[in-house]
Formats: sequence, C-alpha cells, structure tokens
Amino acid sequence: MKTVKTNIQSILEQMTLDEKISQLLQLAAPFFNGSKESGQITGPMAEMGISDEDVRNSGSVLGAAGAKEVIHIQEAHLKENRLGIPLLFMADIIHGYKTIFPVPLAIGCSWNPELAQKSAEIAAKEAAVSGIHVTFAPMVDLVRDPRWGRVMESTGEDPFLNSVFARAFVRGFQGDDLTGDKEKVAACVKHFAAYGAAEGGRDYNTVDMSERQLREYYLPAYKAALDEGCQMVMTAFNILDGIPSTGNKKLMRDLLREEWGFDGVLISDWGAVKELIPHGTAANKAEAALKAITAGVDIEMMTSCYVHHLKELVEKGNLNTALIDEAVLRILRLKETLGLFDNPYRGANVKREKEVIRCESHLELSRELAVKSCVLLKNEGVLPLKPDQKIALIGPFAQSGDLLGAWSWLGSKEDTVQLYDGLKERAPHSHISVSQGCDIETGTEEQRNAAFKAAGEVDIIVLALGESSNMSGEASCRSDIRLPQVQLDLIAKLKELNKPMVTVLFNGRPLDLHGVADETDAVLEAWYPGSEGGRAVADLLYGEAVPTGRLSMSFPYSAGQIPVYYNQFNTGRPKDAPDAQEYYVSRYLDIPNEPLFPFGFGLSYTSFSYSDAKLSAAHMTLETPFKVSVCVTNTGEIPGEEIVQLYVRDITGEVVRPLKELKAFQHVFLQAGETKEVTFTLTEEQLRYHHADLAYKSDAGSFAVYVGPNSRDAVEMIFNLEK
Ligand code: BGC
Repeated sequence: MKTVKTNIQSILEQMTLDEKISQLLQLAAPFFNGSKESGQITGPMAEMGISDEDVRNSGSVLGAAGAKEVIHIQEAHLKENRLGIPLLFMADIIHGYKTIFPVPLAIGCSWNPELAQKSAEIAAKEAAVSGIHVTFAPMVDLVRDPRWGRVMESTGEDPFLNSVFARAFVRGFQGDDLTGDKEKVAACVKHFAAYGAAEGGRDYNTVDMSERQLREYYLPAYKAALDEGCQMVMTAFNILDGIPSTGNKKLMRDLLREEWGFDGVLISDWGAVKELIPHGTAANKAEAALKAITAGVDIEMMTSCYVHHLKELVEKGNLNTALIDEAVLRILRLKETLGLFDNPYRGANVKREKEVIRCESHLELSRELAVKSCVLLKNEGVLPLKPDQKIALIGPFAQSGDLLGAWSWLGSKEDTVQLYDGLKERAPHSHISVSQGCDIETGTEEQRNAAFKAAGEVDIIVLALGESSNMSGEASCRSDIRLPQVQLDLIAKLKELNKPMVTVLFNGRPLDLHGVADETDAVLEAWYPGSEGGRAVADLLYGEAVPTGRLSMSFPYSAGQIPVYYNQFNTGRPKDAPDAQEYYVSRYLDIPNEPLFPFGFGLSYTSFSYSDAKLSAAHMTLETPFKVSVCVTNTGEIPGEEIVQLYVRDITGEVVRPLKELKAFQHVFLQAGETKEVTFTLTEEQLRYHHADLAYKSDAGSFAVYVGPNSRDAVEMIFNLEK
C-alpha cells in the first residue's frame, strides 16, 4: 500500500500544471481516433477548442469499446504521453455489454438481487475483456414520475429496494478484488443527487426538496452503493436547493466527501460543468470551472472549462493548486487500483473477447432474469397458453428486435430473440399466425384489416404492444403515458371479435393502461427484456415458467395522478378514515386516489393465501429480537414462488411518516398445497428516520407492521416500541 502511494505521489510531483489539468479532462473516443488518423483538429475537437496536447495529456476516454480499439488508443497514448500515464476507459454499460439484460426497472421488478448481481458480473466480464475499466452504473435515482424517460434506468420508487439493488450491482461489477481480478470493472454510481425528481417528469428539469426528504428517500441508494465500495460518483444535471449539483459544494464537498468520507473520483455528467452557465450560476466557463472544482468535481466530462481556465484561475490567485493536485491524485489512485500502471491494457483481449461475449451461459442468465422481471398484471384465466390453441400474434412487437431498451448501445437488435421466434421455438407444432396490425405510432387500414382477418381464424389473440425503445431513456419524456392511439385502436377493433385477448407490453415506464387492462383478458408487462426477450416471454406465456415479478414502481391510474407512490403520507383529511367527511377529503373528483397497479403487485399462475400472521411480542424492546411471522399457502394447482413483503408504519412520529415503508422481503417457493411459515426479524434500527433536526433515530410508541403479497393487500398488526 505504501509503495502504491509513493508511486502516484511521485508521478504527481513530476507533472506540470498543464499536464495535471488535462488529466481532469474526459473526452469521447472519436477525439482519440480523430487526432491520430487525421493529424489535425477537426469536428468536435475544433468546436471544443481542444488541442492535440490536451488529448495527449487527458486522463480518460468515454465510450471506446472493443479490445482492438482500446488497445490501439492506449498504445498510441502511452507513446505520446510524457510520463506514460495510462488512460482510463469508461463507458455506459448499464444493463449488459453485448449480452443485454432487461432494463434496470425490469430488474427491479425481479426483487432478486442475486440475479441482478450476476447480470452485473457478466456485464463486467464482457466489458473488461473489451478493454473497459469503469462503467457509468449503477444509476440509482429514486423515481416517482413515469413521464420521465429515465425511469427505465432506475430500479424504482422505493429507497430500501433501490439500496438492495445498488449494492448488488456494485458487488457484481467490482467483485472483491478490483486490482487482481481483471474481469471486473469499477462502478460509478449516478446521478448524484436526486436526478429522478425532475419537476413534471421533464428531463434536466428543476429539483427542489427539503433536506429531510432528500436524506430520507433519495440519498440512501447512493450511500448503499458507496458502502459497498463503489469507486466513483457522477454528478446530476439538476439543481438541488437552487444550486446545480455539479457546482454544489454543500452536496459534494460537505456531504459526499466530508460527511460520508467518499474519497474516490467524482465525475461531472456529460457537459454538466459548462451547463452551470445556462443554469445561471456561472457567468462564464472560468466561473463554471471554479465552482465545479471547488465543489469537488475531479473529472470534467466532455466540456473544456477546466482545460481552458483552471490555469488562469491559479495564476490569478483564485484557485489553490491543492484542489487540482487532490483531483489528479484521486484519478491516479483509481488507475493504480485498477492495476493500470502495471498493465495498461488490463483485461483487453481480442481472442478472449470472442469466447466470452454473448457466450451461452451469459445468454442463459439474461433469459432467466428476463423471466423473473416480467410482471403479470392481469389474468382472467387465459394464461398460460395451451399448445393446442390456435393463436394470432399481432402487434408492432410481434416480430421486432427492439426489445433491448435504451442504454444498450452495444447490443444488437438483429441478434435479439423476437417474440414470434420465441413462441415458435417453445411450441413448434402450434398454429401461430403473425401480423403487425400497426406500427408503434402509426398504422394503415390494410395492416389493421389483415390482423383482424388473422384474429378471426384463431382461438386466442396475443397482442405484442408497447413503446419503441427511443420513447424512454434520456431526453425521452412523455406527457401522455398511454400506448399510442393507433395501438389502442387496434385493441378496440380486435375486441369486436369477442375472443380472449392477451397483451404483452414492451415499454420503459409504467403506463396508463386504460384501453389495455380493461379491454384485454391478460396483461403481461415484459418491459424491455433484453437479448433473449422473445424466449423468456414465450416461457411465461406457455407456462414453462411461472411469473414471479412484482412492480417496483406504481402504475398510475392516469397521468393526472402523478406522482403516485406507495409510501405516501396520510394527510389531515384521508379519504377512507372512519370519520371522514363526504366532500372535504383528499381525493380527485374524477379518478381514484389509488394507482391502477400498486408497488409490489404481481400475479402468478398459482395463488397464495396468508394466515396466522403474528408478532413474537406486543412490545419491541432494544434487548430482545422481535419477530414477525406469517404462514403462506400455495392454494393453486401448480408450484410457484411468492415474494412476501414486510412494511411498517410509524403511527405517530415527530414528523409525518409514510403509510407504509418496505423493510424486508423474502422469496418463498411452494409446491401446490404446501404451506410455509415465513419469519422476519425486525429491529429498532429499521424504525429510524430523519427527524426535523435531521437526527436519525426512532420514536418510542405505536407502529403498524404489514405482511403480504404487495403494498396494498397486507395484513396489519400493531406493536409498541419501548425505549
Ligand atoms: C447521461 C449519463 C451518462 C453520460 C455518459 C449523460 O448524458 O446522463 O447517465 O453516463 O451521458 O454517456
């Protein structure tokens, strides 16, 4: 450890101020290829005013992938960089490298951190062999607004569940020996902080909330990632309490670095340093640079405020070089941790790449996770399908490879298993006709008539509907979160046939499912299921696999209800209180308060009942372990897995507490007719919250605890916390 320190310290001492400043610059891959191939400054480089020297001295590359390309860039760089400081290669490996897994929101619905971890291990393995050192993941922004396109990148609306997944992803990416294990990559948790709370669900928009709310709901998942050893943090685009995160000293320096003790690399989001100018907190690039470095941002991604202005700030006496040294040292330390000074090519290996990427076991896991991520929202006895049924598969996703979702830039739609192919493979002798019915947002009379005719000839209609993958993701927000009208019209037309209809949905956000859930007999939410999507969905539709997914984000009744989330407060005039007035209560005149499908909800092909819920004592004390147990019975005819969920409510707190808060969950597998007792241990620590003065502690007094299959249908028991 001592030698490591001495080494990077001595490198730092040999660096000129210009070299140090360039080390803080992150450029996209084309800058490197461009400079080498053309020998002159063109395109983006010229626009940014980046010189060849800046490129030569820069510290990291964004978005290069493939062992050959990475080795080529690194080799050329090492020849030209005076001190031979290797480049760090970073990229967005969000839900897979080339083996694409379901989108993170779908993974959230698996409630399965073990599989999530495995998916990150595989993503790391494929990325590492392709030369990548750092992934810009996990994204752990808590989300409550499905209009925001980036909800597909998050695991959902709950701080506890998000924290569980944050840890799992970091463990998967980094493993426990980042230096020695060349199949791992460093993780970068993002977007710090509270990017998911953009007003109106519009990307990059204002975020404003109390510090208590921030700490209670939004911060825990970032903290969990860091507790797991996450090496890097990325700033968010949004403001927080009036100051853009990227220049927010209170957030970065005081909270992240001082209070939480994070000493890893902090990177700006793409262009976010320069965006301090349009935000209106910096007059020019020099001021933006000063604010960002003062706030603790080490690497500036894709703008040139640092390279163009830090030196002049130092020369004018406005900036202490200690801040620059500290940032450079952190970057060098990460390079050291990744072993780049010993082997700058790390895991990059052209030969191994061919063996590892999209190998059978990786695709198998992708399929398994996709099966676990789909959520059965409705089933009026029509699923699973039977092999002797004649089926008409209809819709824009019937034969589409657009099943990967946003942030799968290395995934290939051509290699993705389409739904029709998956169904044919699963039921080769069944009659399955296929027609498109319409495109995603438009359609012709001809398409619709052809589908109508095909549907007339079968026993059951399977609709494959949804949003194209560019309708969610970054900068892809929607105000109307229903399916495009043409798809709703298709359902309405087919409904005339009065045949059983199953809808399979491929989309990146909770949708308003009016016109779908009320019009068809079964709804399977498949999200973007990834490389093996068609096979995974076919496994579920034919009952080869039994659905286990549970929503990790509420499906609103309609967009007018947003934000709607399960851990809301009671208000002073709750609608359903026994003494509630008829009119002056907290409600809408035209829609219910409740979401269409609540957090934690999901059906199976079997059914479960809960009985004998009990507490080990009426009082929880600090000394004795407190147990909550319930018996779960599989009341159906086939084996199945239930996810038993435990929620609590602090009935009277110093500040208002949510009606329910998820505290634990357990997967339980039951044969038909089998009963198992499921026991949870609940501790005083799990009852703590941030008080008005931000102190994190519990209150003595009454609590409700709930156990059940989702956040709505759970058995309530009351206990007392004694202190
Ligand atoms: C996104 C980040 C991403 C970065 C680099 C930004 O636009 O907000 O999530 O990691 O680009 O690609």
